Amino acid sequence: MDPYRLGLLGHGTVGRGVVDLLHRTSEECGRRTGRHLEVTAIAVGDPTRPRALPEGCAARITGDPLEICRDPAIDLVVELVGGIDAPREWIRAALEAGKDVVTANKAVLATHGEELFELARDHDCRLLFEASVAAAIPVIQVLQHGLPAGPIDRLLGILNGTSNRILGRLEGGMPFTEALAEAQRDGFAEADPTLDLSGWDAGHKLALLTRLVLGTSVPLDALKVEGIERIEPIDLAFGARHHWCLKSIAELRRRPEGISLRVAPTWIADNSELAAVHDEYNAVLLEAETFGTLVLQGKGAGGLPTAGSVVADILRAARGEGRTPATPRQELRILEPGSSPSRHYVRFRAKDRPGVLARIAGALAEEGVSIASVEQPEPVDPSAVPVHLITHPVPTTVLDAALSRLGPNGILSEDPLRIRIDALPSPLPSTRVDEGPGATKGATPCPA
Ligand SMILES: NC(=O)c1ccc[n+]([C@@H]2O[C@H](COP(=O)([O-])OP(=O)(O)OC[C@H]3O[C@@H](n4cnc5c(N)ncnc54)[C@H](OP(=O)(O)O)[C@@H]3O)[C@@H](O)[C@H]2O)c1
Repeated sequence: MDPYRLGLLGHGTVGRGVVDLLHRTSEECGRRTGRHLEVTAIAVGDPTRPRALPEGCAARITGDPLEICRDPAIDLVVELVGGIDAPREWIRAALEAGKDVVTANKAVLATHGEELFELARDHDCRLLFEASVAAAIPVIQVLQHGLPAGPIDRLLGILNGTSNRILGRLEGGMPFTEALAEAQRDGFAEADPTLDLSGWDAGHKLALLTRLVLGTSVPLDALKVEGIERIEPIDLAFGARHHWCLKSIAELRRRPEGISLRVAPTWIADNSELAAVHDEYNAVLLEAETFGTLVLQGKGAGGLPTAGSVVADILRAARGEGRTPATPRQELRILEPGSSPSRHYVRFRAKDRPGVLARIAGALAEEGVSIASVEQPEPVDPSAVPVHLITHPVPTTVLDAALSRLGPNGILSEDPLRIRIDALPSPLPSTRVDEGPGATKGATPCPA
């Protein structure tokens, strides 16, 4: 069989999975492509460390990714290192040398995708990236080739397994720092988890999916991104009492007046499809007039699930499929995501002083924010009494303006936490203020 020679950049969690999977499935890969797939070189950060390679794999190990990208004997470069600047240079070099490229790196494509896809087209090469979004879920293929005609009106995604796993642990009452430490210990969070927790890992993935849905690229600054760093078990406990579930939701919404893009912690009904997506699992929900609702769900991280999608791309390239389609630039009208009204949950921590609730209600009323319900559990610490509040539908932008009026005014012990409530079938909870010892004196239920 005609050989198809691969150069891998990276032999970490995903890289090792790819080498092992190609070895285990070599006969099937040969049948499906008509070619003999051969890993001939692997670049790593530390080339002096011994590497366990499958029997019969004679790949040379190097510390120089560019050497692989420029090697005329290599047909395809698989980038599995991560990061932005260096992978951009390596992918550029490989495409300029006329090689196909497969990558699992959403960050480099979300940041420099237009430049790299254009380069791939100019050199008549493939740049494939199935594993970069939702690891095992073939969502890129579905969006590129698998859907009936007709525009997608809405895309909702749980696209970051680390956040999803941590939110699940908070729901069980585990403190945030412990939940994060557990995720890191079990290999589900990076040593530096900033991109996961800030929502930007999901933001990068949403940018890639948006490019496919709209057929044009969107700048990253069109996304509004909020993280899960300030969520606490008391928020989850409040939601659970009202049959809500908290998920970090990535959302693309297309309306006649424009599109909005956001990643944010969002309350959804605990019996909805996305509420059943736990731990490192990811899901993508698509809505369109043609097919109604379609949900794709699967493992969103891990060496083997991700390697499976990388190998699927390698097979496509070896068969000569998957050329990068042109994406003509379009003028998009980007809407502020919080501009249409939704109900919101707000958690305050207030000092135990008379009239605190009245001051909060007053600040909200000045911006026309109407309160549906207030709950103040009996406080443990009188310097930081939690108050949970639900608003009637209001644009997030208006609520944020109202909350900023509260500013550093001496009654709050920290900034309020605000979370949007997505359309819920369940009724709103009724107003309740516990008047136990230490409860905020003079507080009254707030009128709607
Ligand atoms: N892990 C997942 O579940 C998952 C899921 C989807 C997508 N991805 C994406 O897949 C990519 C790889 O992730 P991973 O989890 O496999 O990462 P990883 O375990 O940290 O492995 C990174 C690999 O890159 C090598 N490396 C680092 N710097 C290098 C350099 N300058 N030159 C050459 N090699 C270098 C490392 O070398 P050493 O072995 O010497 O340290 C290691 O082999 C990332 O883009 C990630 O976002 C990962």
